[in-house]
Amino acid sequence: MRALKKSGTSPEVLVLELGEERKFMPSVLKVAQCAQRAGVDRHGILVALGGGVVGDIVSFAASMIRRGVGHARIATTLMAQIDAAVGIKGGVNFNQSKNYLGCFHPPEEVLVDPDLLKSLPLAAVRQGMAEIVKIAMIRDRRLFEMLEECGETLIGTRFAQPVAVADEVITRSIDGMLIELSSNPYENMTLERYVDLGHMISPALEAQSGYTLHHGEAVAIDLAYTSCIANDAGHLSDEDLLRVIGLLRRLDLPTNHAFLNEALVLRAFEDTEKHRGGALNLPVPTGIGTCDFIRSRAELSDATVTRTLMRLAETEDMLSEADLCVVI
Ligand SMILES: NC(=O)c1ccc[n+]([C@@H]2O[C@H](COP(=O)([O-])OP(=O)(O)OC[C@H]3O[C@@H](n4cnc5c(N)ncnc54)[C@H](O)[C@@H]3O)[C@@H](O)[C@H]2O)c1
Repeated sequence: MRALKKSGTSPEVLVLELGEERKFMPSVLKVAQCAQRAGVDRHGILVALGGGVVGDIVSFAASMIRRGVGHARIATTLMAQIDAAVGIKGGVNFNQSKNYLGCFHPPEEVLVDPDLLKSLPLAAVRQGMAEIVKIAMIRDRRLFEMLEECGETLIGTRFAQPVAVADEVITRSIDGMLIELSSNPYENMTLERYVDLGHMISPALEAQSGYTLHHGEAVAIDLAYTSCIANDAGHLSDEDLLRVIGLLRRLDLPTNHAFLNEALVLRAFEDTEKHRGGALNLPVPTGIGTCDFIRSRAELSDATVTRTLMRLAETEDMLSEADLCVVI
């Protein structure tokens, strides 16, 4: 506010109480009302100060006000700093559909200051970590190893310690995300995107929970389940499957859910095909830091779904027994 006032502007401030359960159209309209009250013209700019939900809502509002005004994102959660604020998408949920309404609207600026994470609840740090695990899984083995070595400390200190590792983890995550997005920012070149790993069953899980399950937690469950699909299809070794689910559990992220069953997975396949032009294009890990696609639903029978759900439960049991051995 001081910086803005110094530059001669007197910004109108709107404080919104938001969460996933309020990421709906009425919140976008509140932003539009505020912009209208403030007399925002075509050169006006909206500043989103907050996490991924605030960024998505403000970005969507900015794309519609006067058919598009500028916006900047000051990302205050780990999830926003390494993922939500890095891309060019905004949007809101509609009925039971996650991010059904939305836009591609590139921000003018994105500010990432890890100091802002100091006040973040630990649960929110953990949720952001799920997207870092995803980026590591699709393209960055070293990042995965850094999380194996220091992930718990990074969460516990809200990315204050170890300083050099915290900086490198955030930078590698943003760089990785930018590289993955840059050749296809509007998603019109291809519907095969590695960054979609972890986003097949997660939207259905979030919606079914009435948006009480956080996006990052849903992504963690999806990463664990999709790794089981990859293992079943012969793409991912048993050892790497244990590493993925083991890391998620060490970071205290969920890897399963009461809502995760055959019906939900089959519904998610259908939704995914609708979203990806009729093809499944499911990114699956083929190792730590490498990925490929299962392109067609025909490659995954209903029996596969049942088998992989059992595989997930077995792997979790195996890891729990290993934990017990360590405690003894
Ligand atoms: N547009 C995209 O490409 C994209 C990508 C990934 C995720 N997303 C979206 O992002 C959302 C999740 O974002 P999120 O994880 O940031 O959740 P969030 O925006 O709900 O923030 C989590 C909580 O942290 C609080 N908070 C924010 N910053 C804080 C701080 N510095 N100190 C203390 N508390 C703080 C918020 O008030 C909120 O209660 C989902 O809706 C998801 O769909 C969008």
